[in-house]
Amino acid sequence: MIGKDIIQKLPSPSFILDEEELFRSITGFTEALKEFFSDFTLCYSVKTNALPYLLNLVHSRDCFAEVVSADEYHLARQCGYRESRIIYNGPMKNKKTFLEAVMGGAIVNIETKRELKWLEELSKDNIYKVGLRLNINISRVSMEDADGGQDNSRFGFSDETSDFSDALSVIKKLPNVQLSGIHIHRTAHSRSVRFYKHSIEYACEIIRKYHLELDYLDIGGGFFGIFPEKPTYRDYVCAFREALYGYGLDTLRVIVEPGNALVASCFHYLSEVIDVKHVEKEKWFVTTDGSRNDVDPFFRKQNYLYDLYAEKDSPSVNEQIVSGCTCLENDRLFCIKNGPLLQLGDRILYRNVGAYTMSLSPLFIRFFPCVFAVKKNEIILVRGKWDAEEFLQKSIINN
Ligand SMILES: Cc1ncc(COP(=O)(O)O)c(C=O)c1O
Repeated sequence: MIGKDIIQKLPSPSFILDEEELFRSITGFTEALKEFFSDFTLCYSVKTNALPYLLNLVHSRDCFAEVVSADEYHLARQCGYRESRIIYNGPMKNKKTFLEAVMGGAIVNIETKRELKWLEELSKDNIYKVGLRLNINISRVSMEDADGGQDNSRFGFSDETSDFSDALSVIKKLPNVQLSGIHIHRTAHSRSVRFYKHSIEYACEIIRKYHLELDYLDIGGGFFGIFPEKPTYRDYVCAFREALYGYGLDTLRVIVEPGNALVASCFHYLSEVIDVKHVEKEKWFVTTDGSRNDVDPFFRKQNYLYDLYAEKDSPSVNEQIVSGCTCLENDRLFCIKNGPLLQLGDRILYRNVGAYTMSLSPLFIRFFPCVFAVKKNEIILVRGKWDAEEFLQKSIINN
């Protein structure tokens, strides 16, 4: 829990990582997996928040890293992950890291036809294992979760066409390559437990149809975190087991790749009021040194979880709109009706902002803010503010 003393002490704006909260999430997911499976891997989705200090903390708690590009692959390696503790997904692999990962014993889930070609370059003196991503159409596998136009997917090999069976044939023809797993990451809008159950059942049908003998099923990510009235880690994992048990496949190694469910709740964002303007009879604009860019890079959220830290009493006003500091007119975060007017120096702490924020924020107007980690009574600066010096890296100004 981040206390008032910490809020007052830190420079604004900054992100704050609550280490205890992160560990609570990791332990919660691990315990749920342990209850239902003897063989499982909890793997953190690096794209969700690639802060190096975070990657190291997650590694220290025995999680693997799930990466989806050569850059993320190198980042994970530099943050201490051996190849055998990396899961390599997505279409953005390059040949060099793809072959290195397969040879180094990473779990590599093939996503594209070019990767199937690259397999031919593996040495013939060893046996290598790879996984294959299965295309999941939401309305095909779980009508109750259908969401319209984007139920089909750009990812994986489809069994609705010959793509999946063709990919299987390519792998079967290579004497030094074995198919060891199926990857089925897909996020339905509902994030419902039912959707995962149905997707796993669909994967089991495919495994049965092609008589596949696998080591693992990689279920991907997309789970809710720790919100009341939403499914818990245990609810999801219990459904995985039920679905696999129905097909006699519950001894498979189960892999999960959560991002949001592990890191959303452990990050906070601190900002401070830098100006208050009276623009209409009943309306004030409160400008802060934070930005919607930092906590909502797509500018789509309807509401934010936040706490106000006001220093002095002030008169109540009809409507105040709390906004960010960029020059975007819609850099507006929330509206307070009939509350005390915020004053210069008052602080706002946005909660639950760890997922797809820091990894997606554009370097717009000013560069990345500081990131602090809080563990018990210690506060550590884990990434300094980026300024022009960091922005200029690898650039030339003139020739
Ligand atoms: C392959 C894969 N695995 C895991 C994740 C993590 O998803 P989430 O952060 O919703 O858990 C993603 C997100 O896009 C993904 O593409």
